[in-house]
Amino acid sequence: MKRTWKVAATVCLAGLAAMPAIAQNNGMDVYQSKCQMCHGREGTGNTPAGKAIKAVSFKSPALMKATDAELIAAVKNGKGRMPAYSGKLSDTQIKAAIAYIRKLQHS
Ligand code: HEC
Repeated sequence: MKRTWKVAATVCLAGLAAMPAIAQNNGMDVYQSKCQMCHGREGTGNTPAGKAIKAVSFKSPALMKATDAELIAAVKNGKGRMPAYSGKLSDTQIKAAIAYIRKLQHS
């Protein structure tokens, strides 16, 4: 069941990539296409890239406590070795990605 879902999600993402006119406003899509390579599927930064540049785990106590505004600002302006996404992603996309991170934090 889980596997089927993953295949469906991949097909769906491929479809989105083929249609650049459709903005990716879905948090999961934004996260998977722009953030997951560093932050990992579960948000723990457990990827080769994440480990190499020391991506924080979203489940760290400090980040669990951080406000949405703080996290949104970090994504917009960049932080440490994370690139700034201001101008690359819309506010709506950044907010959606943060909402998705919140889900990962509580999963
Ligand atoms: C190139 C790898 C990379 C990518 C891609 C990336 N990040 Fe990060 N991210 C990092 C690193 C490294 C840190 C830790 C920064 C630090 O504290 O020094 C971080 C930290 C964060 C933080 C915590 C900020 C804080 O206040 O401490 C959030 C939230 C975050 N990233 C969200 C995102 C989102 C959302 C995306 C996708 C739009 C994304 N990241 C893409 C590497 C990345």
